[in-house]
Amino acid sequence: MYKPAITGTGVFTPEEVITNAELVETFNAYADRMNAANAEAIAAGEMEPMQHSSDAFIVKASGIERRHVMNKSGILDPEVMHPLLRQRSDDEPGIMAEMALDAAKKALAQAGRTPEDIDLVICAASNMERAYPAVAIEIQALLGIKGFAFDMNVACSSATFGIQAAADMIRSGSVRAALVVNPEICSGHLEWRDRDCHFIFGDVATATVIERIEEAQGPHFEILSTRCATQFSNNIRNNNGFLRRTRPDGLADRRDMQFMQNGRKVFKEVVPMVSHHIADHMADEGLEGSALRRMWLHQANKTMNDLIGKKVLGREPAPEEQPNILQDYANTSSAGSIIAFSQNSDDLGDGDLGLICSFGAGYSVGSVLLRRHL
Ligand code: COA
Repeated sequence: MYKPAITGTGVFTPEEVITNAELVETFNAYADRMNAANAEAIAAGEMEPMQHSSDAFIVKASGIERRHVMNKSGILDPEVMHPLLRQRSDDEPGIMAEMALDAAKKALAQAGRTPEDIDLVICAASNMERAYPAVAIEIQALLGIKGFAFDMNVACSSATFGIQAAADMIRSGSVRAALVVNPEICSGHLEWRDRDCHFIFGDVATATVIERIEEAQGPHFEILSTRCATQFSNNIRNNNGFLRRTRPDGLADRRDMQFMQNGRKVFKEVVPMVSHHIADHMADEGLEGSALRRMWLHQANKTMNDLIGKKVLGREPAPEEQPNILQDYANTSSAGSIIAFSQNSDDLGDGDLGLICSFGAGYSVGSVLLRRHL
């Protein structure tokens, strides 16, 4: 058995940014238009008026201040309220592959590796832009990687599940080095017309290089162990899928064809699930939560992360023990914990322990226990 290690990570950050103030201005303009268009029904009590959103609520409820997106103009047009992306021909790289490529090149450079060194690509994300061929195979071809590639989807937990799959293959010897990429265009499946969730998501892509520890070219993180768990829940759901046209009204502009969640329930159920998951993972390694120098948690909600951190460490975590990036990126689904890791791990000392943990729809939770080697 070989020991796997994370030797490089990379982040692609879209140039366009939407602040809460911009988002709320658009949402409120949309709500006013809808209320004006439905004034009679509202006056007759047949319809509830849409309420305004607020920057103060968004920051208080989530900790999110802004988000990067692949297209801002469509989202901020009250007549459109979703991103507008260019139609690409089948002969040019898809948008997910293009985003992943940028992150992958950065991760390979940090690992001191070239595509020839990699023999597995996993594209692990919440949504794939098409049914097939796999986005991972397109990325493999664009980079000129031999070996094999496949897509996987475990919603917000996709990155850690992908790392576990790659690490297990490296352990067994079936691959030598893997690239796990997480291109997330969350703006495409967010319902920007729903004030309960319109502030939640942003777009980004992350990439992680995992290889045999003895082949690491520089400072790296040994993967001591990984743990994944799932438990079915309808509290985060999106009904869009390939059978859409087969169902009555399937092609209509239906609310359930975008991201839907029962945010309160998610909050209440996922915090204990994740806290116990991390505690059990640590206990099985003979470790206390307090042994962790750092946690890179899924980036959905600041209060949620504060609570999980407190339960795991047994005390209030210091900000540097549990870095958040969601104020700048919002929830970027599977990529969030990898952005936090990529931007906040260089300063760890030799032997320091850290844990990446992502969680979300499914429900699903995945944790990766790491030891720093300089
Ligand atoms: N602006 C102003 N008010 C808003 C609002 C907005 N954008 N959105 C909701 N409100 C209102 C609600 O209507 C509600 O009003 P009421 O008390 O009169 O009914 C009030 O604010 C509280 O709303 P609620 O939805 O209960 O807020 P919350 O404190 O639970 O925060 C979330 C909402 C979504 C931020 C929070 O539940 C959460 O983060 N949950 C977990 C999300 C998660 O991890 N999802 C995973 C996705 S992968």
